[in-house]
Amino acid sequence: TQKARLYSGMQPSADSLQIGNYIGALLQWRDMQDTYDAFFSVVDLHALTQPNDPAELREKTRRTAAQYIAAGIEPSRSTLYVQSHVRAHAELAWILSTITGFGEAGRMTQFKDKSQRYGADATSVGLFTYPVLMAADILLYQTHVVPVGDDQKQHVELTRDLAERFNARYGETFRVPEPVIQAETARIYDLQNPSAKMSKSAESHAGVLWLLDDVDVTAKKIMRAVTDNDGVVAYDREGKPGVSNLLTIYAALTGRQIPSIEDEYAGRGYGDFKKGLRDVVVAEFEPVRARALELLDDPAELDRVLAVNAEKAAAVADETLSTVYDRVGL
Ligand code: ADP
Ligand code: NA
Repeated sequence: TQKARLYSGMQPSADSLQIGNYIGALLQWRDMQDTYDAFFSVVDLHALTQPNDPAELREKTRRTAAQYIAAGIEPSRSTLYVQSHVRAHAELAWILSTITGFGEAGRMTQFKDKSQRYGADATSVGLFTYPVLMAADILLYQTHVVPVGDDQKQHVELTRDLAERFNARYGETFRVPEPVIQAETARIYDLQNPSAKMSKSAESHAGVLWLLDDVDVTAKKIMRAVTDNDGVVAYDREGKPGVSNLLTIYAALTGRQIPSIEDEYAGRGYGDFKKGLRDVVVAEFEPVRARALELLDDPAELDRVLAVNAEKAAAVADETLSTVYDRVGL
């Protein structure tokens, strides 16, 4: 029997991914590779919605792909490619934009948040149509499931609406995908500001754990993480957000249950707990970082792998796109 298809991607918006991307996306993707026919892309067209230096964008794209592979996404098993290498994404996005309501797109909360932060003059039409491009990404591959954080759920709902609308208007063309929303226990917060989601686009990097950082830097950031004054290693998301976040990271990387970690550190201080976590994170990151740097040392080979995978992706995407052209009268 044919495996169900999975699609997901990340923006190459920094030189390194952060531990939230690793726990909330990469580790889950890695484990889903067996069950699904998985497509993972580095969405560089999406990244253009923020200001970018061209040479830096190209490098961030390569670095993001290297980190996917280093974290265990196997480009011989999954289709791991760069979005802009497959022309069909931009072409389908245009066609889908013609069936997307202006008001409908205007209701996307991520657009409202970002455009408010950027201001009207720095907000592009591309930022507005970002979810339409995301819909194209997903629909091109006749995707069954889309693993996303809950901040992307609304975009997957829009994708479903567009698929249904297109199918109703032009005839059955797209599979209607299902979102797989990441578990709350996979959500990681900023170490210095544990009420904010850790993000590669955070303004301050003091509380962000980067996959490619030097291990000494990572260790220091963990030892300096914000906690509280009661000295008890216990999970309480509301009352003890800092400690709870550290427990979440600990549990996610060791596969242990939080109560067992609480027991281990009962009656010991935060210093001991942080040292324990530091050792866990450093042990996890070291081989991933080493592998990513090794891949980046041979850009020609990495580019070759990405080109082969882009061809695999394009074969699927082009088939969908040519049906779409046919259906709409192009
Ligand atoms: P970022 O905010 O770091 O730029 P993206 O918005 O590009 O991250 O998200 C890429 C993927 O990483 C998504 O699947 C998202 O759910 C996941 N992710 C991002 N930040 C976190 C986090 N702090 N905790 C858990 N998962 C995260
Ligand atoms: Na982001």
